[in-house]
Amino acid sequence: MSIKELIKRRRSVRTFDEKPLSETDRNKLMGYALNADNPFGVPVEFRLLDVKASGLSSPVIVGAREYLAAKVMKTENFEVAFGYSFEKICLDALSIGVGTVMLAASLSRSAFEKAMELSDGEVMPLASPVGYPSDKMSIRETLMRKALRADKRKSSDELFFFKNFENSLTENEAGDYVEALEAVRLAPSAGNGQPWRIVVDGDKIHFYEAKSMKDSPLGDIQKLDVGIAIAHFDLVRKENGIDGKFTVSNPGIVVPNNICYIATFDRVK
Ligand SMILES: Cc1cc2nc3c(=O)[nH]c(=O)nc-3n(C[C@H](O)[C@H](O)[C@H](O)COP(=O)(O)O)c2cc1C
Repeated sequence: MSIKELIKRRRSVRTFDEKPLSETDRNKLMGYALNADNPFGVPVEFRLLDVKASGLSSPVIVGAREYLAAKVMKTENFEVAFGYSFEKICLDALSIGVGTVMLAASLSRSAFEKAMELSDGEVMPLASPVGYPSDKMSIRETLMRKALRADKRKSSDELFFFKNFENSLTENEAGDYVEALEAVRLAPSAGNGQPWRIVVDGDKIHFYEAKSMKDSPLGDIQKLDVGIAIAHFDLVRKENGIDGKFTVSNPGIVVPNNICYIATFDRVK
């Protein structure tokens, strides 16, 4: 299945069918984890954790036996890098029929952190159950999805801009980035807040965060969201044969209140 198709089909899974992962799928997942790099060069270390052995729980998850968790050093760009690498694995997991949902809040954090053996300066921003989706969602999951409006996304003209934040991007101006931008729009985010904003300026695509939450000791959770959106953009532009790389170099475009610059995709022709 193409990455565009995977992104369209992806949804958070909170109800699993109780079956343990097959040995083949477990090995595949660990293989993906070894390759879950990111354009920011920040190493992210993944581990598969057993629910019973590590005493893990989540109030929103039913029927999962294992979790995928990851830790990262609190260095420059760590949140964006972490979001990127974690989402890459979640899409890889979906490609073999394994469901995921990123959990930053709804988890027994101290048990997870203990199992991850965090050292000084390391954080575990989130973890995800991994397993086979149940045919039927729990009532709680159905209600949560309604409350979060999880199947809805902001419209393109609220998210994407041309040259500066005063002009919404038209389809014509988006050119061959249309599919990569649609993949950004469909990305998952904490509380479905969709804090990513993009300014397209010729060969440069600038990514911003619309910050509406305070930082926690774990960092800025909305930067994880922007990292996830960058992963969607990057994987689709690669699939579509668009060459280039990410840099962090603020172009100095005038920004509305609470909008922060994150990174730029620089196209190579
Ligand atoms: C960084 C991040 C943190 C999240 N934390 C939680 C969480 O603590 N509990 C939860 O039930 N869902 C959590 N989610 C899942 C979002 O609620 C979900 O992605 C959003 O509602 C959109 O739904 P969808 O993923 O099905 O498209 C998180 C998602 C992200 C990206």
